[in-house]
Amino acid sequence: MNFARTPFHHFLKRLQNISAVAFIAGALSAGAFAQSTAPITLKINADQMTGKVSPRLYGLMTEEINYSYDGGLYGELVRNRTFKWSNEQPLYWHLIQENGGAGAMSLDTNLPLNSALSTSLKLEITKAGRREPVGVANDGFWGIPVRPNTKYRASFSARADKEFSGPIEVSIVSSNGATVFATGNVRRINGDWKKYEVTLTTGNVPTSADNQLRLTVRHAGTVWLSCVSLFPPTYNNRVNGNRPDIMQLLADMNPKFLRFPGGNYVEGNTFATRFDWKKTIGDISQRPGHFDDAWHYWSTDGMGLLEFLEWCEDLHMEPVLAVYADYSMRQGALTNELDFCVQEAMDELEYVTGDTSTKWGALRARDGHPAAFKLNFVEIGNEDNLGTGGRTYDLRFTKFYDAIKAKYPNIQVISTATSHTRIVHSRTPDVFDDHFYNSSMQMQSDSHHYDDYDRNGPKIFVGEWATREGSPTPNMNAALGDAAWMTGMERNSDIVIMASYAPLFVNVNPGGMQWRTDLIGYNTLTSYGSPSYYAQKMFSLNHGDAILPVDGENIPTREWQAPARRGGTAPAPRQVPYVFYDATRDTKTGTIYLKVVNTGEEGRSVRVQIEGNVKMNPECEAVMMSAASPDATDSITEPDKIVPVMTQISVPGNDFTRVFPPYSITVLKLAAGAPAASLTKVNHKPVETFEGTTTPAPAVAPAQAAANSSTKLKVVRVDSEETVGEDGKGANAVDGDPQTFWHTQWQDAAPEPPHEIVIELPAAESIKGFTYLPRQDDEVNGTIKDYEFSVSTDGTSFGEPVAKGSFENGKEKKTVTFAPVTCRYVKLRALSEVNGGAWTSAAEIGVVPAN
Ligand code: AHR
Repeated sequence: MNFARTPFHHFLKRLQNISAVAFIAGALSAGAFAQSTAPITLKINADQMTGKVSPRLYGLMTEEINYSYDGGLYGELVRNRTFKWSNEQPLYWHLIQENGGAGAMSLDTNLPLNSALSTSLKLEITKAGRREPVGVANDGFWGIPVRPNTKYRASFSARADKEFSGPIEVSIVSSNGATVFATGNVRRINGDWKKYEVTLTTGNVPTSADNQLRLTVRHAGTVWLSCVSLFPPTYNNRVNGNRPDIMQLLADMNPKFLRFPGGNYVEGNTFATRFDWKKTIGDISQRPGHFDDAWHYWSTDGMGLLEFLEWCEDLHMEPVLAVYADYSMRQGALTNELDFCVQEAMDELEYVTGDTSTKWGALRARDGHPAAFKLNFVEIGNEDNLGTGGRTYDLRFTKFYDAIKAKYPNIQVISTATSHTRIVHSRTPDVFDDHFYNSSMQMQSDSHHYDDYDRNGPKIFVGEWATREGSPTPNMNAALGDAAWMTGMERNSDIVIMASYAPLFVNVNPGGMQWRTDLIGYNTLTSYGSPSYYAQKMFSLNHGDAILPVDGENIPTREWQAPARRGGTAPAPRQVPYVFYDATRDTKTGTIYLKVVNTGEEGRSVRVQIEGNVKMNPECEAVMMSAASPDATDSITEPDKIVPVMTQISVPGNDFTRVFPPYSITVLKLAAGAPAASLTKVNHKPVETFEGTTTPAPAVAPAQAAANSSTKLKVVRVDSEETVGEDGKGANAVDGDPQTFWHTQWQDAAPEPPHEIVIELPAAESIKGFTYLPRQDDEVNGTIKDYEFSVSTDGTSFGEPVAKGSFENGKEKKTVTFAPVTCRYVKLRALSEVNGGAWTSAAEIGVVPAN
């Protein structure tokens, strides 16, 4: 393990061999660490185990979101390489006409390369010469990364008219055209389609991102281009491979499985935009690509089924394959396609696992991978408890389950309708996939979620989970929620057999994010792990194979008020611990891994008592990550601000006290000696009893006050409202309850903005502004960016807007003022959403009276 060192490392070094409590009390300001009279005690029985830690507990979940593959992990540097992103224009491509050279570029569907790439780029050069180049340039995904002494593989297919025979110059050039970093030539271009390849090598140039790929010519004529590609070196030198820095971040987590290809991405909004695996295999020039309408951008499908499997192979992960289950998010289920979809999935399983004598196994061999892959888990769809999915899921699941079990009896079939529904009742799923996206306090409060689950029931896969605080990547408070939650999953990993954070990736360039709070961020040149990434890494790299029973005593708690569910009343306040913990043991080496999470602003002194037949070696290790404040975070500019630190510590015996700093996550690796006998199996018991000392703690920030105190406003018109998938009716925007909101339609259709809401005041009055409170739950969908606000006396004629502008993205109430105006009706028109989505939402809208 190679954890970076920070100033806290030196602080910890100094802690060695010193009475921790005494040291801390002296080293930090008085009162920083409150000591309760009854000490927090963790009693661990090292001779007993409540169950086995699942060997595949920590893994990854992935889908095409936030430019995860195209513009992310997938090595391709050309954006819109197949010219299919738009039918209207060659997006991300520019015409180059220098020093009087002249030409035109356009999309052309005549005589395409093949039926998959049905559009090509036509470049008509009317005037060109040695000093008058004409060509096309591609901006890449927020630039093209240039690094010193690096080889790039450029390739393209081209055909030409009789006038043109080449050459074509291929270069990587700074965007202002001033510097050519690498260049190569294709000397002759034939009339018919042919693939050409050029190696471009940079010299000792500085690293930079603001660059383009250019294809230029110096003769008149017409040339057509298709599948223009540029690859830098990739992880394990795969031809159609991945970005090494991001792969290394993943490898460092030691993940055991990869759930792919989604998420919403596997379903799409319609049958036509599902992950259609058969169109994602073979040479990249044979892949049509598709519009990722779940997340609103073009997917080349360069990251296709085989690439997912090779990604698994490269990182020694086992595949958890999600198959399309005849349900798309907006179109719903097409039950007349069910048999077809089951057959598609069976073909897919054969492509993955079949030997080369099978039809699909042979195609895999054709694609360059004769060896079959081992597949233990297949997931049927995604989140089929949501939308209208639940209505047909039992029928659909049963069909898939029966077909898979008949041919592959050892494959575990996963239901996505979650463990707390009874949606699947005709078959017993082997595993349920549960998803959680919550605030830090909610994650902490729910950390005992699986404590009382039936130990003999179906297993659980927490296939998506995250504490959603921080953007684009989680902050320390999120990491604390994650770590608290992970203690619960690890303690229950006899039944929680797999878990994967989601989403995994985000391109942090402007416009790269569709979903905030993502584990790993990157731009064109570099990548970084968030505090949550490091928390995962700490858990994944440090655990044993047996779950030890731990009794916690005098655990301090704070009161927390969970928000009301939409349209409901708030539940009773809960006591949430400040300290979370679990212990596992490596039954071969005897090492005990004790994890302690201190979520509070005070350091906590904890007495650890290890019972049982242990021979403690005082030389132990601690891995610890902490932050000065909960909102501290890592970022693309400060990637190592919060990282774990590993130190050698001295433990006096099997009964010791240690201080866990504020906002910290710690793993103590306690050398307890190899056990003389097998651990005794004892029953799992819920360990969280929150009756300990309650340390006074600052109240959690109350939910945002209602934006609109007036309940007398009335919504007279909205252009769209969602009433099927959720309660998004327009009236929610003036009901005085910040937990409910107006949301435009998304379930069966998703009309594009602008969206508008017209509100009637109780009487004509003079107003000087309006207020907008964005939705207050964990989601951001629909939060308004650009707006116009206008007024009317009769509710039909609204003149020029009295205010227009852009809101900052954020949950806080926004107030916009203008010169007083008298009116009876107001109209808020949302022109765009903060993430470019189709929706509009509003928790509350109000007016500011002039007097
Ligand atoms: O992780 C983001 C999305 O959240 C996934 O696509 C979906 O499964 C879930 O709703």
